[in-house]
Amino acid sequence: MNLIAAVFNMKGGVGKTTTVYNLAAGLVKFKQARVLLIDIDPQGNSAAALGIPIWELKTQLKDVLQRRCSINDALVHTESGVDLIPSNLILAEEEIPISGLPGREVLLRKAIEPLVENYDFILIDCPPNVGVFSINALMASNGVIIPVDMSYLGLLGIAGIERTLNLVKDYLDHGVEIKGVLATRFDRRNKLSKEVLNSLNKKFDKKMLSCIIPETVKLREAPSHSQSIFDYDPKGVGAQAYRQLVDEVYQWL
Ligand SMILES: Nc1ncnc2c1ncn2[C@@H]1O[C@H](COP(=O)(O)OP(=O)(O)OP(=O)(O)O)[C@@H](O)[C@H]1O
Ligand SMILES: [Mg+2]
Repeated sequence: MNLIAAVFNMKGGVGKTTTVYNLAAGLVKFKQARVLLIDIDPQGNSAAALGIPIWELKTQLKDVLQRRCSINDALVHTESGVDLIPSNLILAEEEIPISGLPGREVLLRKAIEPLVENYDFILIDCPPNVGVFSINALMASNGVIIPVDMSYLGLLGIAGIERTLNLVKDYLDHGVEIKGVLATRFDRRNKLSKEVLNSLNKKFDKKMLSCIIPETVKLREAPSHSQSIFDYDPKGVGAQAYRQLVDEVYQWL
């Protein structure tokens, strides 16, 4: 079975987008996998990082969710080889009308049905909240990848993530497996990074991904060049860590 994974954490700035677009690009580059990235965050960051001019979109995810176009009409083939359903801020402007549609929690799941068999991996970049878009991402997914930054508040946010997954299971009858918890923004000079990592290892045990994403300016710079870390700084520590993530995620197939 293919993997449909939401990259989810309600906390902002933990590295969801950095993870999703580099993972998608790496799965294509190193594994020749067929990958679709769905940007359900109105910030449009993963689309932008893949070099898509997000203010010039003729069709985008919100049109698909509102059933104004087919998913194929919104599909973009990016230079990286990753296929993309992009978004921009107009998705946020349409949040209230979309929330009023019948079957509002499963709009994305229904919309991607015609495409699911075309891909090995469908990765969904979630916004930093638990609104209708994150719920749609979880309802469309069979697994979730949780990036957690190495901060006290990052650790504190775990309970909220678990609560959301339980709500989706109990009230919407959809179990989403935690496929992996990813330590991000790790600074080895920093005691707190090590303490947070220890706590995560204790809590999640085998669910912890063995790669650790370091804090490095190259990961911050790569999107401004519309490049994945594998093209922008192929020998750096960021590329090495995300390459390891590609290997680990590919094994889930
Ligand atoms: N490992 C890292 N090293 C250095 N900078 C990073 C790293 N990961 C992410 N960043 C930077 O931190 C910022 C937030 O990262 P990112 O956008 O990936 O987080 P996010 O969880 O998607 O945020 P949001 O919740 O707003 O969608 C970005 O400027 C990004 O370039
Ligand atoms: Mg993001």
